[in-house]
Amino acid sequence: MRKRKLGTSGLEVSELGFGCMGLNFLDGKGLDKKDAITLLHSAVEMGVTFFDTAEAYGPYTNEELVGEALEPFRKDVVIATKFGCKDARPAVGLDSRPETIRAVTEASLKRLKTDYIDLLYQHRVDPNVPIEEVAGTVKDLIQEGKVKYFGLSEASAVTIRRAHSVQPVSALQSEYSLFWREPEDEIIPTLEELGIGFVPFSPLGKGFLTGIINKKLEDIDRRNIIPRFSEENIQANLVLVDALSEIAKAKGITTGQLALAWLLAQKPWIAPIPGTTKLHRLEENIASTDIVLTADELAEIDKTVSGITIVGDRYPEFLEKQIDR
Ligand SMILES: NC(=O)c1ccc[n+]([C@@H]2O[C@H](COP(=O)([O-])OP(=O)(O)OC[C@H]3O[C@@H](n4cnc5c(N)ncnc54)[C@H](OP(=O)(O)O)[C@@H]3O)[C@@H](O)[C@H]2O)c1
Repeated sequence: MRKRKLGTSGLEVSELGFGCMGLNFLDGKGLDKKDAITLLHSAVEMGVTFFDTAEAYGPYTNEELVGEALEPFRKDVVIATKFGCKDARPAVGLDSRPETIRAVTEASLKRLKTDYIDLLYQHRVDPNVPIEEVAGTVKDLIQEGKVKYFGLSEASAVTIRRAHSVQPVSALQSEYSLFWREPEDEIIPTLEELGIGFVPFSPLGKGFLTGIINKKLEDIDRRNIIPRFSEENIQANLVLVDALSEIAKAKGITTGQLALAWLLAQKPWIAPIPGTTKLHRLEENIASTDIVLTADELAEIDKTVSGITIVGDRYPEFLEKQIDR
């Protein structure tokens, strides 16, 4: 698989990464540890070098399995993790106090079985801690060799600039896909100006863009708290998937591949991190890196999507409040 540079900081990753959250923390089922590790090893064999986790996934268990799986390949992979949720639980609140960042980093290093974290993100901007203080703390951790690169997640353009002035930000990880295009307004131009890479999370719209979700989710599924995934909104939003699947069919690719190829075509410094629990889908997703969408196809996708209004928020109120505006 080809590599991409995330902005101008020198951080290089496979053009498609692997979002590890869903291995044990998305649909309420996930994989057992042994199967998850086998899948991660397959990803490495297929050329994926960029793996995304967070202390909040599980909490803790996702980092543990990523650490165990990637230990044999440590030097060849880029591991990204995140701090910033109070008690590692987004529902409890936010905590990016310097002492917490330090403690979380030490704990993540242990769980990840490594002595450095390649890319350390703040999971959400903490309104109670100035971002300069957060950036300064990560700067110290970089100087100590515990962290290599600094990232933010769901930060506003203003926050990105403030953080970047203290410690260069290498990557922003925020939601971006054909299901959520808000970053195009202000965020992407800011990243381009500052030379910061973009890591779109939920690049398949948490699965929705692939067409696998067409009815009410099972009760144990974590996506049930998301307004977009209410039974009624799923039905309303299927118009988007139907339209995209027509375009994909004409090109002989899957709708999920269309969604990933579209993201890769937006900027050469974008590296999406789709997640899956299935080998055949991993193969399908990786194959999207060889799909080239023509200018006409990109224009058709843009026209199609622009004409559709997505129904339902992407987060419930208590999590929406944690988004930096
Ligand atoms: N920074 C943040 O706040 C934040 C928030 C959310 C996510 N993330 C990161 O982003 C990563 C990816 O996001 P995500 O898991 O929310 O969403 P996603 O990658 O857009 O979608 C994952 C879902 O799509 C399904 N899927 C994957 N490939 C498929 C294919 N080819 N065909 C059909 N279905 C397919 C998976 O189901 P199967 O497992 O059944 O294949 C899973 O349900 C996460 O793992 C996490 O690392 C970060």
